[in-house]
Amino acid sequence: MTQSDIGVSASSDAKEFRGLRAIVTGGASGIGRAVAERLLREGGRVAVLDLDISGVGTEFLVAQCDVSDSESVSNAVRGVVEEYGGIDIVVNNAGIGAQGTVEENTDDEWRRVFEVNVYGVVRVTRSALPYLRLSKHAAIVNTCSVAADIGLPRRALYSATKGAVLALTRAMAADHLGEGIRVNCVNPGTADTPWVQRLLGQAADPQQELEALSARQPHRRLVSADEVAGAIAYLASPLSGSTTGIALNVDGGLVGLRIPQGPA
Ligand SMILES: NC(=O)c1ccc[n+]([C@@H]2O[C@H](COP(=O)([O-])OP(=O)(O)OC[C@H]3O[C@@H](n4cnc5c(N)ncnc54)[C@H](O)[C@@H]3O)[C@@H](O)[C@H]2O)c1
Repeated sequence: MTQSDIGVSASSDAKEFRGLRAIVTGGASGIGRAVAERLLREGGRVAVLDLDISGVGTEFLVAQCDVSDSESVSNAVRGVVEEYGGIDIVVNNAGIGAQGTVEENTDDEWRRVFEVNVYGVVRVTRSALPYLRLSKHAAIVNTCSVAADIGLPRRALYSATKGAVLALTRAMAADHLGEGIRVNCVNPGTADTPWVQRLLGQAADPQQELEALSARQPHRRLVSADEVAGAIAYLASPLSGSTTGIALNVDGGLVGLRIPQGPA
């Protein structure tokens, strides 16, 4: 079966997401916001589900939603379906950070971060699956992290959640392949988003910290939110119908390359 057989065209004047309905969690800020804008530009209808919806424009369908709360998620997903009549794309992007070694976070902190980063993906996906099954171009993209692949200091809890997201991505891809639902994830390196700006703001010397974070990535800069959004759009696109179960690194070569240290 070719792409034209399934009604998908790669012609340059066609908007890739025309007619498709997407949910983006954490779509009010950073990577999620860049994804929501990208899908909208490419002709999609986009629902932003976020805890804080104060800055989200009226071009989006907006739902205040806490992915760590089952009722909040099912209400938000129901609202999207009432408005759009279905769902084709789910971008599970909402996430929170945590710093510390395995000793340094309390049980409550472990539960809180897993509730958002892992169980949030489970809740949103579970609520959306009945509608994704009805779509001809169903795709789920999870925002994971390089922390799923490499050991970063003092990121035990955060890395554990992203390792779980990576494993869950592959397991869901296997489970739902036969239903025509593709599942992939992106693994960003350190990306220039409000999250990282907040971290820099807490550093004793923000400029020095920015230089250290940039130097950690072989291309010697932070990843942009738009670069991650581009990768998510690729994985969500009906033109990527043969791509499922993968993790796409957007990390300036951090995971894959071994570049000798030296001046930039
Ligand atoms: N920025 C990075 O360097 C980086 C690197 C790798 C992976 N990531 C991942 O990218 C994703 C987005 O991060 P970002 O940098 O854009 O962060 P961000 O803080 O700019 O945006 C995150 C959004 O998620 C929302 N959110 C948080 N908790 C939520 C909840 N319980 N329910 C609903 N929404 C909630 C926030 O309100 C915010 O709008 C996260 O999953 C993060 O782990 C970020």
